[in-house]
Amino acid sequence: MIYDNEMTLNFRAVSTNEAFARVAVAAFALVLDPAVSEITEIKTAVSEAVTNSIIHAYDSSEGIVHIWCGLKDNRLYIEISDSGKGIDDVQTAMEPLFTTKPEQERSGLGFTIMQSFMDKMEVFSEKGKGTKVVMEKSVGVCENNG
Ligand SMILES: Nc1ncnc2c1ncn2[C@@H]1O[C@H](COP(=O)(O)OP(=O)(O)OP(=O)(O)O)[C@@H](O)[C@H]1O
Ligand SMILES: [Mg+2]
Repeated sequence: MIYDNEMTLNFRAVSTNEAFARVAVAAFALVLDPAVSEITEIKTAVSEAVTNSIIHAYDSSEGIVHIWCGLKDNRLYIEISDSGKGIDDVQTAMEPLFTTKPEQERSGLGFTIMQSFMDKMEVFSEKGKGTKVVMEKSVGVCENNG
């Protein structure tokens, strides 16, 4: 596909970058004139995916998180990836309330939140190689924009 606009971000997998990442992606999508609720949904989905890379992929050791975003017509495309430990069983990991870190008070709802806030969400993961979350959302097309 030929996008109207694209951007990439690569940053250290540290928790301070989670706020940076969600604001950066939301700012990139502003040209689509999103409703306030849509900005919140985009930010939350990005935040969940980035947090997963920081906490689960790299287990708080060093690593890089990659974000690619594209715009085409009224649609926002987001890919968030890491080169961390990967996921054993993606289908199970995506089930609501499934978490491998219950001791850290994780609720296992990150993927469920991404799914509900975005129009499309897919997870690709390979053990020992990393994980990629691919999301899409139509933005700014709602009549009650605001
Ligand atoms: N990038 C990733 N790398 C490795 N494992 C991951 C990654 N993202 C998710 N997982 C695995 O999938 C599980 C489910 O993720 P999900 O975000 O739904 O829940 P959580 O992170 O455990 O809890 P919450 O997001 O509610 O704080 C995680 O517990 C973890 O085992
Ligand atoms: Mg999570």
